[in-house]
Amino acid sequence: MRVLVIGSGAREHALTLALSRDPAVTALGCAPGNAGIAAVAELISTDITDPAAVAELAKSWSADLVVIGPEGPLVLGVADAVRAAGITCFGPSAAAAQIEGSKAFAKDVMTAAGVPTARAEVVDNPARLDEALSRFGPIYVVKDDGLAAGKGVVVTPDLEAARAHACSLLDAGHPVLLESYLDGPEASLFCLVDGKTVVPLLPAQDFKRVGNDDSGPNTGGMGAYAPLPWAEPDLVDKVVKSIVQPVVDELARRGAPFTGLLYAGLALTSDGPQTIEFNCRFGDPETQVVLALLNTPLAGLFTAAATGKLAEHPELEWADGAAVTVVIAADGYPAKPRIDDVITGYDADGVLHAGTRRREDGAVVSNGGRVLSVVGQGEDLIAAREAAYAKVARIHLTGSHHRTDIAEKAALGKL
Ligand code: AMP
Ligand code: GLY
Repeated sequence: MRVLVIGSGAREHALTLALSRDPAVTALGCAPGNAGIAAVAELISTDITDPAAVAELAKSWSADLVVIGPEGPLVLGVADAVRAAGITCFGPSAAAAQIEGSKAFAKDVMTAAGVPTARAEVVDNPARLDEALSRFGPIYVVKDDGLAAGKGVVVTPDLEAARAHACSLLDAGHPVLLESYLDGPEASLFCLVDGKTVVPLLPAQDFKRVGNDDSGPNTGGMGAYAPLPWAEPDLVDKVVKSIVQPVVDELARRGAPFTGLLYAGLALTSDGPQTIEFNCRFGDPETQVVLALLNTPLAGLFTAAATGKLAEHPELEWADGAAVTVVIAADGYPAKPRIDDVITGYDADGVLHAGTRRREDGAVVSNGGRVLSVVGQGEDLIAAREAAYAKVARIHLTGSHHRTDIAEKAALGKL
């Protein structure tokens, strides 16, 4: 089977690595990929946001299966174009990807499906902002109603800061979503979906804030671990029953069946799991830890999801133990990352590339805000943390920063 992966981050590095371990995969391509992915897949350059260009590439490269990593191309209809060209595609249609592309659409679907989530109001007129804000608090949640790569959200007890963020979004012409605050630990549950059947993967937790102890601004994600030793044993079943399956059924009812990876971002509140958001693709960096533990061959699994056959697929097989990933970010990330710094010491198993490229002189240099995602595995979270941080210690990138507390509380049983 010839498999073409679309994207260029550490998530796509994890996907290509896992696909390369599947004996059914005879050729692996990645567009556009990065310096790390080049070791496992043929790198191909194309405009991944152009549906016609990706479909053309899939045809000319004779792909049997296309796997789309990021949300941008999905929201723009790349999966639709690939399927229209007669090629099997793992990834939702543009219509189903609205579950991530529009937070207002997601709220509407969740309401119709009776799924627990935060109370929300959309504000598109600055004159209505103060009155709307008065219905929220004492902790304010202000979001951009559109794709913002996890960085469009401000959660703050400071009314002035909430108002300022909302005003800057409105000034830029973006409607604002105000939400009630959901308390409790967060979890990410990734589910394979074939339009109808839902197959959950291991739950994971990611770390969105840039600094230790969840300080500083939100980022795309600074680290993750799986599984969750502190979670109740029936968490996954409960979330599939009360949250994921109803949303999958509602999307099908609306004529926009979801095929691909549906990501439920959850707050585990004292009233039970509530939905923070849905994403229409694998999460980054959680994918790096979830796929590290998955032993089931991935190409067969993705094909089953893409062709409506998940109900017939054998049960998933998981490795024992735990995985932890630590993201190494560039100087200035998330506000203004600096690129083109030389990276050294990255030559170990489990060092996944996010924003990297190989320079003409052969050096690997930073090429994005999140540069590497370093994965460690072990018999438990303590061992997995040690393995990850030992690799981090050998890596050098001028001005880089990383969190030192990824999975620490969970490893010490303090969560
Ligand atoms: P989102 O872009 O919707 O995933 O939000 C990014 C992050 O903001 C989430 O992972 C949460 O940490 C936080 N967040 C978003 N919505 C809420 C909410 N209603 N209550 C509490 N925290 C939230
Ligand atoms: N880890 C957060 C995301 O992928 O959106």
